[in-house]
Amino acid sequence: MSKFFEIKDLHVEIDGKEIIKGLDLAIDKGEVHAIMGPNGSGKSTLANSLMGHPSYKITSGEVLLNGESILEKTADERAAAGLFLAFQYPHEIPGVTLFNFLRSAVNAIRKRHTGIDADKDKKVAATSLREFSKKLTEKMKVLQIDESFAKRYVNEGFSGGEKKRAEILQLAMLEPQMAVLDETDSGLDIDALRIVSDGVNLHAGPNMGVLVITHYQRLLNYIKPHVVHIMVDGRIVTSGGPELALKLEEQGYDWVREEILE
Ligand SMILES: Nc1ncnc2c1ncn2[C@@H]1O[C@H](COP(=O)(O)OP(=O)(O)OP(=O)(O)O)[C@@H](O)[C@H]1O
Ligand SMILES: [Mg+2]
Repeated sequence: MSKFFEIKDLHVEIDGKEIIKGLDLAIDKGEVHAIMGPNGSGKSTLANSLMGHPSYKITSGEVLLNGESILEKTADERAAAGLFLAFQYPHEIPGVTLFNFLRSAVNAIRKRHTGIDADKDKKVAATSLREFSKKLTEKMKVLQIDESFAKRYVNEGFSGGEKKRAEILQLAMLEPQMAVLDETDSGLDIDALRIVSDGVNLHAGPNMGVLVITHYQRLLNYIKPHVVHIMVDGRIVTSGGPELALKLEEQGYDWVREEILE
């Protein structure tokens, strides 16, 4: 049986340089996996290439979601297929409010699924706008994001932690099937870490796969992984349970290089 989300022997190049060098990963619905690894090992490259970032060239390998290859799909089509990425460095979108940004994203996905365009169909537009606004208010409350943020331009002038919360707000509104979170914990204060983790846990359930990329074991106290993978130099070199994260926290990466990569 194939798993819900599968990466098979993936190779990715940036500017002709191979960064991901044959990576395999399989995540089932209901599972949380974590990837940890030294700076520059290719974690964000993996995340960005999964979403179809144009600078990343996939030279070989396969990525399957629900048994269907996503690599021929555009970033929009991947989102509609249920894939979601929270960026390590979220982009600012001047001139576009967070409200309109989220609404367009939700509408675009609905349009791909149902063919209904809420921007054109007036009847659908009114009810969908009401539902959308209600849901947005609820989710912002859960994530303790002030209402005023809905009217601000996406990420413009947001603090580091506010950007990370906005990423999880996006996750909450889009309700993806497979979420990749790239260092969503970085820059969060202790309370925000708990709030954001609660937000993720609220959505992660038996029908969703989650891949968290992190440097710190602490996040994994809140978002509990079933499997922890260690990535070094573009490959997953070892995998284990949550104890692997504790070992890294105590001992760093030297033992990985000495014991596993020898
Ligand atoms: N656009 C790019 N152009 C050139 N090199 C790049 C580009 N993006 C990534 N790289 C290189 O690819 C390697 C992997 O980077 P990546 O951001 O994937 O690492 P990472 O594991 O996410 O690191 P960190 O833990 O610091 O976030 C690095 O050596 C980086 O300099
Ligand atoms: Mg990174």
